[in-house]
Amino acid sequence: MPSPRIKTSDLSGRTVVITGAGSGIGRELALLSARRGADLALCDLNEQGLAETADGIRALGRAVLTQRVDVARAADMEAFAAATHERFGVADLLVNNAGVGLLAGFLDTGPKDWDWLVSINLMGVVHGCSAFLPTMIERGRGGHVVNLSSTAGVLANPQLSAYSTTKFAVFGLSETLRLEMRPHGIGVTAVCPGVINTNITRATPIRGGGDHDRRREHLAALYRKRGYTAERVARNVLRAVDRNKPVAPIAAEAHLSYWLSRAVPPAGRWFSARLAAMAD
Ligand SMILES: NC(=O)c1ccc[n+]([C@@H]2O[C@H](COP(=O)([O-])OP(=O)(O)OC[C@H]3O[C@@H](n4cnc5c(N)ncnc54)[C@H](O)[C@@H]3O)[C@@H](O)[C@H]2O)c1
Repeated sequence: MPSPRIKTSDLSGRTVVITGAGSGIGRELALLSARRGADLALCDLNEQGLAETADGIRALGRAVLTQRVDVARAADMEAFAAATHERFGVADLLVNNAGVGLLAGFLDTGPKDWDWLVSINLMGVVHGCSAFLPTMIERGRGGHVVNLSSTAGVLANPQLSAYSTTKFAVFGLSETLRLEMRPHGIGVTAVCPGVINTNITRATPIRGGGDHDRRREHLAALYRKRGYTAERVARNVLRAVDRNKPVAPIAAEAHLSYWLSRAVPPAGRWFSARLAAMAD
């Protein structure tokens, strides 16, 4: 059986694939992987953000392929995988990172919101795995898949009803995949970052009552004040891959959420409700 271990301190000769690499966690993971010697295949809907990430990678002397992809569309992802295989061969590390937020309770979440969130946050991960895993298995030398879940994927967040639901689904998918990929030497890690200061606070639509500008400013201020950077997340994600961790809580609140969800679920629910109230 091939080993799922990828030594992430030295990624030379490795191909790293990242979705949603035009911003935030995806961008920082791409830059860190390049600094450690990897070649990169990157996609995003946001072509300008993607081009900026690619410039940073070229400046580090690494090769990079970029493609505009809507992860919600299976055909886009298949075309991206074909281009990646042609340029670099088989992926060693696949990071299903692209995702979107929605600040809304269940009663304020409409059918179009559900379709949008599920198509990107869940089906985007499914499409990434479907497009890249078969060639990784066929090559027979192992590899690793990282899926971005959330603390809201282990503890329900009532302010993020649909988002939380999709991230629980990503967590579950990662658990099943980890067992199924084990005989192929392919590791799978579900990442639960915590409160990370990225563009997600600006990009997240808000539903329901109250002054939306005020609520957005409050949310952005909370994330800024927490001050946990995407760059720190990137370092910890690569460490988790190196250790072949099934679950990678990143910031302190993510460690606490994960532990409470497993050890003391009622306390976990209380903690989650407090976190949600802070964000409103
Ligand atoms: N920032 C946090 O606090 C936090 C916490 C938990 C989980 N996460 C998860 O981490 C991942 C990255 O988030 P981030 O904070 O870096 O956000 P971000 O908004 O900075 O980056 C997300 C990227 O995904 C891209 N994207 C969105 N929809 C897409 C689509 N349909 N197809 C292709 N690309 C698409 C965006 O254009 C953007 O470049 C997401 O899955 C998010 O849910 C973030």
